This record gives sequence, C-alpha cells and structure tokens, in this order.
Amino acid sequence: MDPTAPATPEPDVEVLPTHTPALFAAAVRRATELLTAGEAVALPTETVYGLAANALDPQAVRRIFAIKGRPAHNPVIVHVASGAMARSCAREWPDAATRLATAFWPGPLTLVLPRASIIPDAVTAGGETVGIRWPSHPFIQAVIRACGFPLAAPSANRSNEISPTHPAHVLASLGNRVRVIVDGGASQVGIESTVIDLAGPAARLLRPGMIHEESLRAVVELATAPGAVAHAGPGALRSPGQLRRHYAPRARLLNLRWHSDQELLDGMAAAGVERHTAHVLAYQSIPSTDVAARVCVIPQDPEAYARAMYAEWHHCDELGARWIVVETPPDLPAWQAIKDRLRRASATEG
Ligand code: TXA
Ligand code: MG
Repeated sequence: MDPTAPATPEPDVEVLPTHTPALFAAAVRRATELLTAGEAVALPTETVYGLAANALDPQAVRRIFAIKGRPAHNPVIVHVASGAMARSCAREWPDAATRLATAFWPGPLTLVLPRASIIPDAVTAGGETVGIRWPSHPFIQAVIRACGFPLAAPSANRSNEISPTHPAHVLASLGNRVRVIVDGGASQVGIESTVIDLAGPAARLLRPGMIHEESLRAVVELATAPGAVAHAGPGALRSPGQLRRHYAPRARLLNLRWHSDQELLDGMAAAGVERHTAHVLAYQSIPSTDVAARVCVIPQDPEAYARAMYAEWHHCDELGARWIVVETPPDLPAWQAIKDRLRRASATEG
C-alpha cells in the first residue's frame, strides 16, 4: 500500500426505512434500481434478512458470493412473487409442489426442484436443482414485482456467521460491503426457511424450519422418519449448506437441562464452563442472576422463541460472552427447527 496515497473513504451504507407508505415506495424504487443494475441489496424477509441479486444474472449472483465469502459449491435460494414466476424457474412442477405451494406459500418454505434453463450455474452451484421460495414479507414481494425477475438471496451475513434478523445485524456483519440495507423491522419468523427436496423419487426434508415436519406430512408424504434429518451427519444430507457447525455464534454454546441453580452450576463445571464468562439463556428454569455473568430469559412458546433466538445470540456475542448456556427446549415437533439450530451451533467441528 502507498502510504502517501489519499485515503479513499468507504461509501456510507444507506439504511433505508420503510415504516410509512412513502418511505416504503422510495425504498422499493431504490432497491429495484440497484438490483436492475446488477448490484446486491440487503432486504428483509419474514425468516431472516437476505442478500439479494438478480437470479437470472450470473455476474450479479457471483457478487453475492463475493460479499459473503460464501463457497461457490453452496447453492442459493431463488425468491419469487407469483406461482407463474416459480414455475418459470423449474423444469418440472410435480403435484407435491402444487400442494405444498398452495398450503404454505407465500411463507417460510423452500422447494428444491429440477432447474429450468434460465437459472444460471452460479445459483445452483452447478447442480441440476434449484431451491425456490415465495416469501411473505411485503417488501421483498414488492421489489420482485417491480424488478420483474426472481431474486437469488442467501442470508445477509458473512459465511459461517449467524443469520441476521434485524438490519443492525446486517450492518455489523457486512458493513460497507453492501451499498443498501432495507430496514423492514425485526424478522417475524426469525430462523431460516424449511427446505424440502422434491427433485428425487420421494419428498425429503433437507433443513427443518418453522413449517415443521408434521405440517408437511399433512400435505405430502416424506421419505425420512421424523427427526431423522436433524440427527443425520453431514454426509447424509444433500443440502450442501447443512454443515454440522453452522448458524453459530462466536461464543461456544452448551445445551443443558437443570432443575436448580446447583444442577446448572454442576452442569457448567462438568463441561468446563467458566461461569463468569458465561451467559445463560433460559425459558422455564430461570436461575438466579449470580450463577453466571448474565442470565437472559427467552419466551416459552416456540414461535416467539425462534423470533428472539438469533438476536439473543448476537447480543451475547456483542457483550463478549465466551459461553452461552442454553436451557434445552422440549423434544416436541414444534421445537424441531430450533433444536436443529441449537445442535449445529454447539457442534465443535464442520
Ligand atoms: O429463509 C431462508 O431460506 C433465507 C431467506 C433469505 O430466504 N435464506 C437462506 O439462505 O437461509 P441460505 O443460503 O443461508 O441457506 C440456503 C440453504 C442452504 O443450506 C443451501 O445449501 C440450501 O438452502 N439449498 C439451496 N439451493 C439448494 C438446492 N438446489 N439443493 C439443495 N439445497 C439447496
Ligand atoms: Mg445462511
């Protein structure tokens, strides 16, 4: 680097508010302008924030990978805003896709289908399938309609960090790597969409989400036994992003159950947790505040828990926690996706 060269100031990130109809419309215009020009924009969806680009433009899609530092072998999801647009992305549209789309779209469900020829290799990581989702968040819907093309969008964080559920999380993770972040408020669902593979002979759950297995089974037959995906090793999955340690905070995460402060302290000691560097995240067995550096309380019902979970992890990281000790949720279907993310975040290897 030439020390005499004048420092070029990084362009400031524009964080665009959307809380009045006029601001919403202005943000749609600005995002559409950039996306049409082949740029990447961070946008709200109901699950987590996405880093979006024109899914039909390989160069724009490659920009997403560069910004995130995402390995090229991990495909990205294509977001649509109509049934016709969804069908234009797939070469085949099986009956199961119609049934699932009717039941759950727009919403937090991604369907993996044989890709149409308009979908570039950059999106599918060279594979023959494409993940398609019609999100319910009004902002991304308005942008897709204004653009007239589908949007490729992974979560708007650097690779291997926690998915963002608030524009501040996007800013903290991507900073000046993006020009525009659209502020659509806190994400309503809070964890990533359910991913289901319809490209093989039988429907298979690839990533659990808040549309859980029981709801899917009411509509289609699934190949895997309940819970099988969540416990499978990395090799068993065809979703390349499903590495074992994923969705992880910087702090180490320990899943525990306890009925008293003493039991919690014993559990932490047994795992080698230094209590003064640990934050406890509890929903039911709330310990006294002196067991750890900090005790946080998270809601008891799974929907509210999922909505708050990543923000709590982000906050623990910001406050410098070395450990997050999580009260393990119950073994019930509604908690499947949350437990999947907790298991992945506590895994120690990739
Ligand atoms: O809720 C969500 O799905 C969010 C929002 C932004 O829509 N997106 C998201 O994207 O979580 P990402 O890239 O962080 O996770 C996408 C997951 C990865 O595990 C990826 O491997 C998998 O979906 N995936 C995408 N396309 C696939 C395909 N064709 N076959 C199998 N898995 C696929
Ligand atoms: Mg992600």
